[in-house]
Amino acid sequence: MANMTLNLRVWRQAGPNGAGKLEPYVLEDASEHMSFLEMLDVLNEKLIKEGGDPVEFDNDCREGICGMCSLVINGVAHGPQKATAACQLHMRNYKDGDTITIEPWRARAFPVVKDLVVDRSAFDRIIAAGGYISMNAGGAADANALPIAKPVADDAMDAAACIGCGACVAACPNASASLFTAAKISQFAVLPQGQPERASRAQRMVEQMDAEGFGDCSNHAECEAVCPKEISIKHIARMKREYMKAVLAG
Ligand code: SF4
Ligand code: FES
Repeated sequence: MANMTLNLRVWRQAGPNGAGKLEPYVLEDASEHMSFLEMLDVLNEKLIKEGGDPVEFDNDCREGICGMCSLVINGVAHGPQKATAACQLHMRNYKDGDTITIEPWRARAFPVVKDLVVDRSAFDRIIAAGGYISMNAGGAADANALPIAKPVADDAMDAAACIGCGACVAACPNASASLFTAAKISQFAVLPQGQPERASRAQRMVEQMDAEGFGDCSNHAECEAVCPKEISIKHIARMKREYMKAVLAG
C-alpha cells in the first residue's frame, strides 16, 4: 500500500466567536485506500500524539445516509466527486503531493461551532415548522390500500432522498436553503397523505426559511450541482408555486 504525502490546509476556529484561519499540516501516512474522513482520523491521531488539539468535524454514518458530514474541499461542498457525500469520497481521487484545503459550510444561518463543525439547527426549525403530517394515520396500512401512480411515487421518493446535509446552502452564492426546503415540501405535496396540510405547510416552511436568514434563490443551480442525492431544482419551482398558491388563497 503506497503512502501519500498530503499538504493539508484546514480551517481551525476555537469557537463561534473566534477569528479562525487556515492551518497548514503535512500528512505523510495517508493512503489511496482511505476514505476522506479516515484521512482526517489519521491527521487527528497524529495531532493527539503530538499533544495538539484534534480537528473537529461532523460525521456519523459514513455511508452517505445521515447528512452529518459537511466539508468544503478545495472550494467545493462535499468535494470533487459528483453525487457523493464527503464521507463517501476516497483518497484515490488525490495523488501524492496534493494540497487539499478543507473548510466548513459558510453561511450566516450556519454559524461555526468549532473548526469544521457548523450549527445546522436552522434546518431542524424549518422541518418543525411544517415538515410532517400531523393527522392521526392509525396503524400501518397495507401497501396497496392507497394506490399511488409510479411516476408520482418516484417524484416523492426523489425529493425524500434529501439527507439534510446543507451542501446546497454552502454552494449557493446567496446561501439559500431553497433546495432543502423545496425537497421537504415536495415529498408531501405530491402524495395524498400530504394534502390536508399542503398549503399551510408550504407557507410555514418558506417563512421559517426566510426567518432563519437564508438567502433567496436566484437560479444559479449550484445547489443541484453539489447535492449528494442529486435533488433537482424542479422542486424549487414547485415550492414557489405551492407558496404562492397558499398565500393567494389566504
Ligand atoms: S437538497 Fe441535497 S445538498 Fe441540500 S440538504 Fe438535501 S441532500 Fe443536502
Ligand atoms: S457521515 Fe453520514 S452522510 Fe456523511
